[in-house]
Amino acid sequence: MAAEMALVKPISKFGGTTPKLSSPRPYGMFCVKMSATAQPAPKSKKGKTAIKETLLTPRFYTTDFDEMERLFNTEINRKLNQSDFEALLQEFKTDYNQTHFVRNKEFKEAADNMQGPLRQIFVEFLERSCTAEFSGFLLYKELGRRLKKTNPVVAEIFALMSRDEARHAGFLNKGLADFNLALDLGFLTKARKYTFFKPKFIFYATYLSEKIGYWRYITIYRHLKANPEFQVYPIFKYFENWCQDENRHGDFFSALLKAQPQFLNDWKAKLWARFFCLSVYVTMYLNDCQRTTFYEGIGLNTKEFDMHVIIETNRTTARIFPAVLDVENPEFKRKLDRMVEINKKLSAVAESQDIPFVKNLKRIPLIAALASELLAAYLMPPIESGSVDFADFEPQLVY
Ligand SMILES: [Fe+2]
Ligand SMILES: [Fe+2]
Repeated sequence: MAAEMALVKPISKFGGTTPKLSSPRPYGMFCVKMSATAQPAPKSKKGKTAIKETLLTPRFYTTDFDEMERLFNTEINRKLNQSDFEALLQEFKTDYNQTHFVRNKEFKEAADNMQGPLRQIFVEFLERSCTAEFSGFLLYKELGRRLKKTNPVVAEIFALMSRDEARHAGFLNKGLADFNLALDLGFLTKARKYTFFKPKFIFYATYLSEKIGYWRYITIYRHLKANPEFQVYPIFKYFENWCQDENRHGDFFSALLKAQPQFLNDWKAKLWARFFCLSVYVTMYLNDCQRTTFYEGIGLNTKEFDMHVIIETNRTTARIFPAVLDVENPEFKRKLDRMVEINKKLSAVAESQDIPFVKNLKRIPLIAALASELLAAYLMPPIESGSVDFADFEPQLVY
């Protein structure tokens, strides 16, 4: 079965550490998160890593490319402000990070020094990040290809964003090589199931994913700069410039949303905006609380780190989304914490020796409890937000 096949290969079999970036599927996909678990490089063909399917299992998405072409057709959509996109294109063409991703010998030495549970969870961090970056590459590459005729400027921006994501994925995969592993991105591209998302949902989800990525990277970078004793691996030193790529990607999606005001200005948009905020924040919080070893290993308190990232992402998102969640209300965090507890119980059921029927019975009340917490969080009084003209606002940095 595909889900049981290896995602991580020993270097010797992979024949190189750079991902094959030239043949995306005929449709675009991106991955919010991935769930492969890391193992040391297997010495024989028997060594395989499995994908754990859980409530938090990440999804790949595909979209309606014909609708995308209509949305960015300047003949149909007269509201498209091409001068905004041309200015953004110049920014992307500047390629600020062209020479940023250069490795040195510190990488291998740091990897060799990392042992025990931190090493294991660290590999997983590299894999998850690499996959997320690579899936962004696939989606942007395909959008760049499909929009070439209808809107060459927007198409070229997508192509240049796919350049950035390929660079990020390649750099992370070279990091895996320090641990004698390589992520089989070609296999991942073919093996994962994908879910269809309409273009407007792709915009909400990708905007949030880029901005939350920015806040995660910059927060880790600033924390480690202030606390260098936790700098266990040099990749974090690259996050300062790296996160600026993610920030630019997010700004581009913000411009795309501004160009499609129908996705921002009605009651449905408000409901969807809150829904996507909630899904992205909860997924990150639950995922990270399952991996506290990683965050503690670099000197962070997982929940404090996540809340900082959520609050800052939410403040940034409030500039463009018509409504956001009131994440600074302490009740929101209390709800997240209760979800973590329920999720722990769900994991315990999954790992128990019970037969599948009993496991499913035990899951019912837990899933109901989780759903009720999610619904309660969604129904908390939201914050009306959004302005097509951006507010004069600079995010506050904590770390
Ligand atoms: Fe990236
Ligand atoms: Fe990005």
